[in-house]
Amino acid sequence: MSNTKAPQDTCVLVTGGAGFIGSHTVVCLLEQGYQVVIVDDLSNASEKVLDRIDQIVGPEAAERLSFYRADVTDREALDCIFDAEPVDAVIHFAGFKAVGESVQKPIEYYSNNIGSTLTLVDAMREHGCKSIIFSSSATVYGDPDALPLTEESPKKPATNPYGWTKWMIEEILRSLVVADPEWDVVLLRYFNPIGAHPSGLMGEDPKGIPNNLLPYVAQVAVGRRDAVHVFGDDYDTPDGTGVRDYIHVMDLAAGHVAALAWMAGKTGCEVFNLGTGTGTSVLEIIKAFSAACGRELPYVIEPRRAGDVTANWADCAKAREMLGWEAQYDIADMCRDSWNWQSHNPNGYEG
Ligand code: WQD
Repeated sequence: MSNTKAPQDTCVLVTGGAGFIGSHTVVCLLEQGYQVVIVDDLSNASEKVLDRIDQIVGPEAAERLSFYRADVTDREALDCIFDAEPVDAVIHFAGFKAVGESVQKPIEYYSNNIGSTLTLVDAMREHGCKSIIFSSSATVYGDPDALPLTEESPKKPATNPYGWTKWMIEEILRSLVVADPEWDVVLLRYFNPIGAHPSGLMGEDPKGIPNNLLPYVAQVAVGRRDAVHVFGDDYDTPDGTGVRDYIHVMDLAAGHVAALAWMAGKTGCEVFNLGTGTGTSVLEIIKAFSAACGRELPYVIEPRRAGDVTANWADCAKAREMLGWEAQYDIADMCRDSWNWQSHNPNGYEG
């Protein structure tokens, strides 16, 4: 049965809540009055995030947060958490997320991402909690036939195991609803999340060489790397470089809270794109970040990266009309906040 209680009486379990998108969503939930339980094994996140969350939300809201260091594939640990906490709904972020690594380690990616989701939903079912928001991705649209992408646009074959795990977990969750109509599932397809908390206290902190454009650009800006490598300038786009729908992580976090409020009391499965509806090229990003950090960032043109699509951006009408949610931040805001985070924390949380 889906939850219809007020935020202060609603307990939300957030898997991967110490990660980049998870931590920003936890802040948003606490600020809206929710009780929040983070489950994170800290395999790709820092424990320091927890202090930063407390600092941002203040002592009163921080009292509504609890943290369990646990792996979502650990059924016993999940059972203990569900026994101890009155969980009403789950937001499931936890998972391996490096595209390139997933090609090298398919067994680990399928086993961890799919295994943890199955373990989680089985534990939820056993404890009578059947509301889940899943962290999906625009990657399920593959190489689009037409833009913008609506939720009705066809899913296309993924180009890597990471993408397949998102693709398959969506189908697994749909199957749950078919088998048991009490389930309440929301699939949120993120476009390209960037930016950081405006306080500069939380942001993206990838381990090793960043795979994604923005953290790489930010590390060039702070002097940790020499130049941005632009993967291809011969795409069929206005300046030849790849175009994506970048969305501020604060907007994404707000999208989760909107979805949580919307789904209360409902059953079924609904999918929403979370993007801005605007495409931005790699060179436009480098330009915007240069403006934010106050110096021209060097870049070199490289060959295309295998598996990259030319362009994608979202049609955001469904989230606007049904969730009452719309992105508020533009590219300049995203680069400003990302730079604020990176310049105050040049080595991330460990800096
Ligand atoms: C953006 C653009 C690159 C790095 C991936 C996943 C997706 C999602 C987000 C995450 C592209 C170009 C990049 C660089 C570059 N999932 N680029 N130099 O590939 O759109 O999406 O991350 O967990 O599932 O596929 O994002 O930031 O890697 O690339 O020129 O050093 O920047 O070619 O055009 P992408 P990205």
